[in-house]
Amino acid sequence: MKKTLKFPKNFLWGSAVSSYQVEGGIDNSDWSAEFPAGKACGYYEQYEKYFDLAKELNQNVHRLSLEWSRIQPSEDKFDRDAIEHYRKILKALKARNIRSVVTIWHWTLPIWLSQMGGWQNQKTADYFEQYAKFVAEELDDLVDLWVTINEPSVYITLAYIIGIFPPHKKNEIMAMVVFRNLINGHKKAYLAIHDNNRNSKVGIAENCAYVDAYDKNSILDRVGARIWRYLRVHLFYYLIRKHQDYVGVNYYFHDRIRFTPLGFPFLKRGNENKDVTDVGWEIFPEGIYHVLADLKKYGLPIYVTENGLADAKDIKREKFIVDHLTWVNKAMREGSDVRGYMHWSLIDNFEWTFALKPRFGLAEMDYRTLTPKIRPSELRYAKICKTNEMNID
Ligand code: BGC
Repeated sequence: MKKTLKFPKNFLWGSAVSSYQVEGGIDNSDWSAEFPAGKACGYYEQYEKYFDLAKELNQNVHRLSLEWSRIQPSEDKFDRDAIEHYRKILKALKARNIRSVVTIWHWTLPIWLSQMGGWQNQKTADYFEQYAKFVAEELDDLVDLWVTINEPSVYITLAYIIGIFPPHKKNEIMAMVVFRNLINGHKKAYLAIHDNNRNSKVGIAENCAYVDAYDKNSILDRVGARIWRYLRVHLFYYLIRKHQDYVGVNYYFHDRIRFTPLGFPFLKRGNENKDVTDVGWEIFPEGIYHVLADLKKYGLPIYVTENGLADAKDIKREKFIVDHLTWVNKAMREGSDVRGYMHWSLIDNFEWTFALKPRFGLAEMDYRTLTPKIRPSELRYAKICKTNEMNID
């Protein structure tokens, strides 16, 4: 039987991108030499084309990030041209009546700052505060929601524990120092943005996996899952609980915890690998429901700041979106105050160490001509965005 799921009036529907992944021409960041993104999607100059696309697809919110290395190219310089350019970008969104969610830091550092140790250096929290103060003073009138930091837990893991992101460290002690500095950086930025305008809405976008026991009959697995859920989902939110106005959640992963008492680390990620994306991540829509239910305890509005998949052939995307939104809707009916959903991503883009190969876009990019082409699955999402409701079987 067909059913119609309704979403509240004023719900925000849209998609997300980040500076290094789409802008192109960024040559002054810690990623630039080792993992050059080249012209990427050419978004920095051709943003209007992408905003027209978002508008055509009935989106009323767009999440983007500011590139620190453009805005503060050296320690003693904030660049007027760069900030004016971001004002133009944000005005172009406003002109189309699209709300803006602006991330201040999405993983790339200016070279001068990475040479000073990046987030290992406790002074980076102060630099981040100055940078946040500057962008808040210059852009706040054009910003609907501020995200200070994208996915601190993923950054720490990939840059300081597994070591595949710059600065390629594998050192748990350093990771803890970075963790502390990121928290301080966030708090300082939060206060700086509020100093400028006490009505601004500020939070983070954290990567929240749904954490489950590998073997539901094993007490050890269940205890392990519980501990890992707190470390993986709640630690950062908890430590910044007095410094956030909403909860931003990026949902991609289903972690199953298997306890291996003699091994190190004691908790292992198990994956049954049933239905996976092009990059091998398990598709588990129900998980977003559990995560959203779990986040109710903060008593704040919740925004899904990212959710999406790599699917070059576009054979799984439509079902992926409908299934995830079905679970989001259920969480909302049960009291999770979800105010918006931003799909990752509007267009295919530079997927970090995987470069241009994975295809996360609602629109497919032709990187040679920098032309986006709407994928068929997107039409279904566009209809949901337009009608604010979804028909399901
Ligand atoms: C990140 C994005 C990334 C996406 C897909 C998120 O963790 O915020 O930058 O492209 O996942 O991997």
